[in-house]
Amino acid sequence: MSDDKQLIEQIVDRYDHEVGMLIPMMQDLQAECGYLPSEQLHCLAKKINVPLSRLYAVATFYSSFRLAPKGAHEVTLCMGTVCYLKGASNISEAICKEFRVEPGGTTRDRLFSFQAVNCVGACALAPVMIVDGKYYDAVTPQAALEILNELSPAGQTVDTTEKEAAT
Ligand code: FES
Repeated sequence: MSDDKQLIEQIVDRYDHEVGMLIPMMQDLQAECGYLPSEQLHCLAKKINVPLSRLYAVATFYSSFRLAPKGAHEVTLCMGTVCYLKGASNISEAICKEFRVEPGGTTRDRLFSFQAVNCVGACALAPVMIVDGKYYDAVTPQAALEILNELSPAGQTVDTTEKEAAT
């Protein structure tokens, strides 16, 4: 039996094959792998006889689940109402364009994981961006790019992605 299958066996056995324990199973899988690899999700769906689409529905509904490996730096942008009204969508657009990443994704060089979330409870500071737990207030698209570029070794993120995109 492959290691992948063995891992799924162990997780499913831990919860007595109980379909109602799907979320804890997925949490355990993520704890083991750091994210939810698609092969493992296929394997889990088959093992407990649940449509794969249901696993993806759960994985995309809860922001704590990741479908891609985590990047070295975690970037969280608040898209709550106040931040949104103060231009958070422009910041998101700038980050996505500069680093070729989608909300919920990780850059190809795994430098940044980027997620957009609802209100982080700091509306007076809107728009808010959090990088590795540090809050940045009144962020502009330009400021967001400067903050992230400081963490990026000499434009490596963009260059790497461009090379990979070209292949
Ligand atoms: S809406 Fe962004 S912190 Fe509240």
